[in-house]
Amino acid sequence: THVGFVPSFFKLLSFNLFNLVTFNGLANSSSYDAFLLDEERGRLLVGAEDHIFSFDLVNINRDHKQIAWPATPSKRDECKWAGKDLGKECSNFIRVLQPFNQTHLYICGTGAFHPICSFLEMGKRAEENIFRLASHFENGRGKSPYDPKMLSASLLIDGELYSGTSADFMGRDFAIFRTLGDHHPIRTEQHDSRWLNDPRFIGVHLIPESDNTEDDKIFLFFKENAMDGEHTGKATIARIGQLCKNDMGGHRSLVNKWTTFLKARLMCSVPGVNGIDTHFDELRKCDVFLMSSKDPKNPVIYAVFTTSSNIFKGSAVCMYNMADIRRVFLGSYAHRDGPNYQWVPFQGRVPYPRPGTCPSKTFGGFDSTKDLPDDVITFARGHPAMYNPVHPIGGRPIMVRTDVDYQFSQLVVDRVEAEDGQYDVMFIGTGAQLQRLTLPCIFQYELFKYVVFKVDCSQQLYLGSGLGVSQMSLHRCEVYGKACAECCLARDPYCAWDGSECSRYFPTAKRRTRRQDIRNGDPLSQCGVEDRGVYGVENSSMFLECSPKSQRALTYWQLQKPGEDRKHEVCLDDRVLRTDQGLLIRSLTQSDSGTYHCQAVEHGFIQTLLRLNLQVVPVQKLGDILPRLPGAGGGVGHSPKHRLWYRDFLSLLDHPDLNSNCLRRKEPRRRQRPKESKGRGCVPS
Ligand SMILES: *[C@@H]1O[C@H](CO)[C@@H](O)[C@H](O)[C@H]1NC(C)=O
Ligand SMILES: *[C@@H]1O[C@H](CO)[C@@H](O)[C@H](O)[C@H]1NC(C)=O
Repeated sequence: THVGFVPSFFKLLSFNLFNLVTFNGLANSSSYDAFLLDEERGRLLVGAEDHIFSFDLVNINRDHKQIAWPATPSKRDECKWAGKDLGKECSNFIRVLQPFNQTHLYICGTGAFHPICSFLEMGKRAEENIFRLASHFENGRGKSPYDPKMLSASLLIDGELYSGTSADFMGRDFAIFRTLGDHHPIRTEQHDSRWLNDPRFIGVHLIPESDNTEDDKIFLFFKENAMDGEHTGKATIARIGQLCKNDMGGHRSLVNKWTTFLKARLMCSVPGVNGIDTHFDELRKCDVFLMSSKDPKNPVIYAVFTTSSNIFKGSAVCMYNMADIRRVFLGSYAHRDGPNYQWVPFQGRVPYPRPGTCPSKTFGGFDSTKDLPDDVITFARGHPAMYNPVHPIGGRPIMVRTDVDYQFSQLVVDRVEAEDGQYDVMFIGTGAQLQRLTLPCIFQYELFKYVVFKVDCSQQLYLGSGLGVSQMSLHRCEVYGKACAECCLARDPYCAWDGSECSRYFPTAKRRTRRQDIRNGDPLSQCGVEDRGVYGVENSSMFLECSPKSQRALTYWQLQKPGEDRKHEVCLDDRVLRTDQGLLIRSLTQSDSGTYHCQAVEHGFIQTLLRLNLQVVPVQKLGDILPRLPGAGGGVGHSPKHRLWYRDFLSLLDHPDLNSNCLRRKEPRRRQRPKESKGRGCVPS
């Protein structure tokens, strides 16, 4: 598994967003904020300013549909009178787009500082071709923020909507809500900075805790101001919060409030000298991606972090596992105590059932949060934060970028099966670029908002940016040029050399036909010539062609004799001549047999261009090998005519397949000085 795996090396590559298939139907808007993949109907749904779009997944520019859903004129007027910017803020910015049931989606927008929600009818199947907004609108308070600048996150599951958002016009009342469904809405305690302190929500996910659905938990990722006295200075920190899905609130206190809410700090820092760590989790930007594994209880969590320091600009990616997160939530609660009123681990008696435990037969032995004893409720209300932070896998970021003019902002991860194992490829948005990173290799790009998904036959990445909605194939193998070596060196798990071009890798394809080596990217092993027989006739001449592309490169040849592991430099003399095009051997003898390695030397670097296995055949044995040669037919005698024909045939074989460009392209350069062509190391044949 990938848990505990820390990649040791990275590779960076840039792609240009402007080359992508892009849709921009809204001239002056960059607010393509809500993305939803509807795999069942093959559509990509995007909520934007005053509009909802439905795109064809295969090609977003083919037959898209759109619905205008603007704020009403009266709401726009109210918004303007309230002092908001009519052009920038008083539109209906779609912020919630979630599947509701088999036929409908639930959708909410800011509604010109007056959030509204509705249902979007999609039909059961694609063929029905339904795309219709219901005429009935609902109040969107506690679902969508009022202010389009506010970050919010939501998840609709089993008919209930979990939203982390701001719930008032002024943007001061932040809360995690559960709305819709049959129950009374539930939220976090109001105006209590211990619960939430000016939070900005990033993501909401359901992660089962056990095989019993009663234990299902909702996890929220957000950033917020550190609690008073929790941190020196005014820092924004990353948090993970938890809730029980079956939390119904308290009975006497915390009525219609969460009783199982707990939060912990997510750390992402590099241990430094003098014990001063470099923190990436005091953040400006942050994003989280859950990589599901076979076990739904244990996804791997990837998060990007960006420092907020003016002095030190940096970004990092950290990975977390659920075991560490659960351990922290089962650990000490943060408690304010002592003469300085500091935060310390709570040492007293924790009431039973332990706050944060879901009512279920598995752990709690109680039926509903409404049955919780008063002391549990009181404790839960005063201790929403855990004392210990969650540390990343390996104790440090898996990747750090400093001293560059961009910062990470978003992240998606795709798990890829490659020839030599499984890889996680990260696509990292940087506002200015989009980085693509494979573990253990990295690549680069540009985006602001994105979503990733797989379509049956063509894996695509969809992204929202200032340019509109773009679509990009995950396997952009053509960017690696036309050579095998470049394809191999790219170490892109999506791509492989198929013999003629760098193309999409299918894990099911036969091994022999595909050349891929993600871990080592060694083109020699992947693209080198297979030991193919090149026949020479004794006493005749042989020309081994090998000419490097670069004019400045010198070739030199090494010979590995049959049955030997070592290579010796080929001795050059009157009989064995080196030319710019290759090696000429006059009057072949048996001892010329062996594997010839043609190597190019440039600026002190050596690269192998070609390997040829030469077999010198005595004239009298010609008849023996002839029938084995393709197209030669049988019954070849020793007549001069036949010998002549045979010579021609051999001269064809003299030119092994040099067409494959990869043999001539650059390979990883080894810092090594080639030996001088003449003199020591040379074994006369
Ligand atoms: C889905 O929900 C909508 C809105 O409540 C309702 O009108 C529709 O009948 C539901 N569809 C199904 C298949 O239950
Ligand atoms: C090859 O050439 C050498 C010397 O030129 C000669 O002695 C030998 O007989 C030749 N062998 C054959 C098979 O023609």
